[in-house]
Amino acid sequence: MKDISLIIHSKGAIGLRFLGLGPNLKPTNGLNKLQKLLERNTFWAKSRTNSDLKKCLANSDVIISLWVGNEIVGFGRALTDGIYRGVLWDIVIDKNHQGKGFGTLIVNNLLSSKKIKNTKKLYLMTTNKKNFYSQFNFEEVTSQDLMIRKI
Ligand SMILES: CC(C)(COP(=O)(O)OP(=O)(O)OC[C@H]1O[C@@H](n2cnc3c(N)ncnc32)[C@H](O)[C@@H]1OP(=O)(O)O)[C@@H](O)C(=O)NCCC(=O)NCCS
Repeated sequence: MKDISLIIHSKGAIGLRFLGLGPNLKPTNGLNKLQKLLERNTFWAKSRTNSDLKKCLANSDVIISLWVGNEIVGFGRALTDGIYRGVLWDIVIDKNHQGKGFGTLIVNNLLSSKKIKNTKKLYLMTTNKKNFYSQFNFEEVTSQDLMIRKI
């Protein structure tokens, strides 16, 4: 049975970003593995380049990864001002490991992280996972509209 490791990265995930570090600070080609995790298991984060992912990690406030042995099987991150507003992004579990409580583990760790736990309003966007997030008290908002700037 391989070890399961949850990593709460330091801000900007320097070890993962520059050295591809995984569990026990061992180099595991982690950035490439993260790129593939997103490629295979999301519809919104396919084809992200390693160079863009590095920027994304550098500017994220809370970053969590989950590993089985040296393979990354889960990821989630958050942006926050630490007090008023925060957003959860890119929550994903590898297809072969879904339904084992890993997604719950990542969201709970994001929510209890130092910077997020004192943030008064937390948002997320989801296309078809509303029921999954309702267990963490996220509710659908009908009084506001989601707007996206066209570029
Ligand atoms: C959504 C996702 C993160 C859930 O992770 P997971 O590890 O499979 O979920 P868990 O095993 O922690 O499930 C926890 C609970 O939520 C439920 N659940 C999981 N996915 C669900 C869904 N899509 N709808 C309703 N309930 C769901 C499970 O049945 C489980 O309930 P239980 O405790 O009563 O058995 C994962 O399926 C995933 O990565 N999907 C593809 C990427 C994606 O769509 N991410 C969300 C972007 S907004």
